[in-house]
Amino acid sequence: MERITAQFTSNKAERLVAATIRLGRDEVHRGHLLLVNAMHPVRSVKEPAALSPVAAAGGLQVLGPAIELETVCLRQLAALLTAVQALDDIVVVSGYRSQEEQQAIYEGSIRDSGPEYTASYVALPGRSEHQTGLAVDVGERQAGELDFIAPSFPDHGKCLAFKETAARYGFIQRYQEGKRALTGIACEPWHYRYVGTPHAQWMERLGYCLEEYMDDVKRFEFAGGWLQLDREGTRAAVYYVRAEERGLTEIPLPVCEGYQVSGNNVDGFIVTVYGIDDDETKGR
Ligand code: DAL
Ligand code: ZN
Repeated sequence: MERITAQFTSNKAERLVAATIRLGRDEVHRGHLLLVNAMHPVRSVKEPAALSPVAAAGGLQVLGPAIELETVCLRQLAALLTAVQALDDIVVVSGYRSQEEQQAIYEGSIRDSGPEYTASYVALPGRSEHQTGLAVDVGERQAGELDFIAPSFPDHGKCLAFKETAARYGFIQRYQEGKRALTGIACEPWHYRYVGTPHAQWMERLGYCLEEYMDDVKRFEFAGGWLQLDREGTRAAVYYVRAEERGLTEIPLPVCEGYQVSGNNVDGFIVTVYGIDDDETKGR
């Protein structure tokens, strides 16, 4: 398997801890980088405050007024659709789903399309990333009815522009051709997942699905080399901190202008730091 190459290394004795934050074990199941699949079920139920109705975002085409997305995911989706001038051409077909909705979709698909089709395109209830609010199904706006489970999202026109630009806004095509052995799901050109930047760009550059990225990112620790991406004058670095089994996990932070921490829904935290001191990144 291809590996991400760390662009610099240093060791803990040399690396300055500017601040420490402490997170409880529950926080492993919160954030934009949650890995949700058959082996890693959804563990946190979104609070209503974290979800926003797509229709209220203004200008987006949406299949129904009740469709919601996690607030940052929705904001970035609106920015992406605006950037590729596709607000009128691409329809939001599905977003956040409760456990009950995923159960109903799953049972409906078994009834209407059979178990083989369902295993390919519908996650088991409790194991769908739609239940996080971070997944969105998009379809090409067309005269006829859109297929709710598998909407058409072709490789041309505005849909292609969306695909080519998605990573810059933090989105990945979650289920790609050739990754079913890892994801458990067949290729879904319409299903986008918000993971944020620079993660989406790294995954695209390396051809990683989320399972591969989450596995590989564990090689980068605060004490060792960090994964680094320079883009448009902004330097971001990424490292992993394993969660303590009990009690609080201490997350070390370097001197930086900003940071984000996300649980991986499995066993730890992914830390993304911005505006890092040059000396920090090169080691001393
Ligand atoms: N279509 C995806 C796999 C889901 O049901 O979550
Ligand atoms: Zn989907």
